[in-house]
Amino acid sequence: MAINRDVWDADAGNWTEMGERHWRLTTPIWGNWGAPEAELHLLPEDMSGMDAVELGCGTGYVAAWMWRRGAKVTAIDVSPNQLATAHRLAAEHGADISFIEGNAEATGLPDASFDFAISEYGAAIWCPPEVWLAEAWRLLRPGGCLVFLGNHPLAIICTPESGADCEKVLHRPYRGFRGADWTQVEIDPSGICFNLTISGWFALFSEIGFTVENYQEIYAPADAVGSRGGVPAAWARDYPFEQVWHLAKPT
Ligand SMILES: C[S@@+](CC[C@H](N)C(=O)[O-])C[C@H]1O[C@@H](n2cnc3c(N)ncnc32)[C@H](O)[C@@H]1O
Repeated sequence: MAINRDVWDADAGNWTEMGERHWRLTTPIWGNWGAPEAELHLLPEDMSGMDAVELGCGTGYVAAWMWRRGAKVTAIDVSPNQLATAHRLAAEHGADISFIEGNAEATGLPDASFDFAISEYGAAIWCPPEVWLAEAWRLLRPGGCLVFLGNHPLAIICTPESGADCEKVLHRPYRGFRGADWTQVEIDPSGICFNLTISGWFALFSEIGFTVENYQEIYAPADAVGSRGGVPAAWARDYPFEQVWHLAKPT
């Protein structure tokens, strides 16, 4: 947690422009190639009367989209510098969002206090899955939903140990896969990110008690060019580079 907090505090300045752009959007887009909400349906259309929490909110644009849909939103992040941007943008947009500096693995928020929880590349990839998913479960009311988006395991498996862009080559074992440590890589070092095999995710959800409502794999659009988040367009047009899990806490 401390490693990832320091990485994000140091990197926060590189995320302000994207945060500003995403705060201005009236219709959400998701992930590195901006997949449209009309295709993915990550958020309920009407969130009036819902208590929603974002786990690892960064600059807070997902929190803003939920607030615009009528939710009462709490958003937690471990990086004071990311939260400084979130607070500034909330003030500029007149958004009433409760931003909390804290650890998504142990938020300190009360049991069963939310109807909806979400993470886009926040706790979803930066926290050990067993820990943050148990915390999300604790925070949700029975009948509540958790949606999270992060890297597809295949994209990490195909990324060289140097941290160079992913290739159509299997660079890492899938068996026992738990993510990647980017702290010591030659190219663009960052933090430690977590992930699981697909069967590993299913086993963990079942152990915690979540049911899987939907699972989506995201590809780059046909006209995508260049490389985003270490994934070249040519790769991401043929292979899923991101995944979304939609989970429910049964009543
Ligand atoms: C890529 S941002 C995600 C926010 C936004 N959706 C985005 O894509 O820019 C990742 C965020 O996760 C936060 N984070 C990492 N570990 C965390 C933890 N243990 N608890 C809370 N936030 C954490 C970082 O501080 C960072 O702001």
